[in-house]
This record gives sequence, structure tokens and C-alpha cells, in this order.
Amino acid sequence: MRKKIVTGNWKMNHDLAQTEMFLVDLKKQVLPEEVTVMIAPAFTNLNHAFNSLREHPVTVAAQNMHQNNNGAFTGEVSAEMLKSLGVETVIIGHSERRAQFNETNEILSEKVKTAIANKMTVIFCVGEELEERKQNNHLKLIESQLTEGVFQQPETAWKNIVIAYEPVWAIGTGETATPQQAQEMHQHIRTVIANKYSKSTANDVSILYGGSVKPNNASEIFNQPDVDGGLIGGASLEVESFMKIVNAF
Ligand code: PGA
Repeated sequence: MRKKIVTGNWKMNHDLAQTEMFLVDLKKQVLPEEVTVMIAPAFTNLNHAFNSLREHPVTVAAQNMHQNNNGAFTGEVSAEMLKSLGVETVIIGHSERRAQFNETNEILSEKVKTAIANKMTVIFCVGEELEERKQNNHLKLIESQLTEGVFQQPETAWKNIVIAYEPVWAIGTGETATPQQAQEMHQHIRTVIANKYSKSTANDVSILYGGSVKPNNASEIFNQPDVDGGLIGGASLEVESFMKIVNAF
């Protein structure tokens, strides 16, 4: 059975004091048992968030990591460093990393390899630009992102891989994919995984949708048969809107 997951991707938002305020409020909330709830604060707040949520069923994830375990990579953070804090989940391949930090499929595949070797859970992001959708190239493009980024992994690694489909044109724009567009792509992703590995692996992988998910549209998206939750940016920064999304299944 695949998991329902809602992950808040805070991006470069919330300093230490704001993180603390969020956590105090979050810990007062009753969480639905069947949903895995995660937050991904900035690196600087991971230690605090992890310790604060130690007795709490919310998972703390990192937004990125380097593909090497250590070395001369000024400004970077490794899987081993994350694990030393207790952080065992990492988002890899967010479209902002791909577009603004030149993370190619090749680099992302290295990152996935390192994360899996360190027994971490990977939330691997894929998504097309508007132009690619207009040219009706979106299904193929996502297939190649999967093939080049995660299909080097053995089938056994897939118990620790989550896919997040985030159409780039829907991120931070207020424009969401329709539930039908999300379902079409999620079903496609599952089929591609089934063809590469097996039906059972494809059935068990959680596929999250991301891109302007808000309290007022989360339900109709999460209700699609192949959508198992969301990767939430803007609406994850306030506990109230985040909780509405967590409860939208
Ligand atoms: P958004 O961001 O919800 O603000 O569109 C989603 C994401 O980038 O993960």
C-alpha cells in the first residue's frame, strides 16, 4: 500500500524565530493518522526542527544535498551531514534547482545514488515547462527525467523513492494543473515505472503533485486515483493553510 504524503517545501523562507513559531503551532494540531506529514525547512533550521519534532510524527526533510559525501565543495551540505542530524529524507531535483542552479539529470542521478547509498528517502521532482506542454512533449519529457534521474536505481531502492510531479508553469504562479492533467501525468509516471520495473513497484510508489496547491484546490487534486499527496510551497508556510491541505484527502 502506498503512503499518502504531504510535504511542505519552505524554500528560502522562515528564519529560526519563524520556524519556532510554526513548530509551536504545528505541535498543537491533531494530525490524520493515515497521512505522512513532512516539512522541509532551510538547512540552517533543520537541526532545530528535527529536535523540536523528536517526539512528534512529523518528518523533517532537507530541500537539497550534494552528491559527494565530503570534500572541497564550499557552501554545500552532504547526506552524511544530514543524517548526523537525524534527517533522513531529501528533496532532489526541484525545478528551481534544475533551472537556477544548473542541476542536470546527470547530477541529479548522482545525488539520488548518494542519498540511496546513505539509506535516505528521496523525493525526486520532475516537471515540464509550459512550452513543452504546448508542444505536447510533456509526457516524453517526464519519462526522460525519470529515466536519466532515477532509473539507474535497482528495484529494491524504490521503497525509499517518492516522485513529485511539479509542472514548472504551476509553481508559485497560482495556476494549478487541472485534476485531469495531474491524473494523466501521474498515471503516465506509474506506467513508465511499471514498464521499467514491475507493476507492484509502480503501485507502491507515492506520487505527489506540486504547483500552487492551496486549501481550496487540494481535495480535488488529492482525490485523483494516482495522486498520493502534495509537495506544497507557498501554502505550507502558515500552519493553518498547511493543515487544511494535510486534511484534504
Ligand atoms: P508552490 O510551490 O506551492 O508555491 O507553487 C510548490 C513547489 O515548488 O514545491
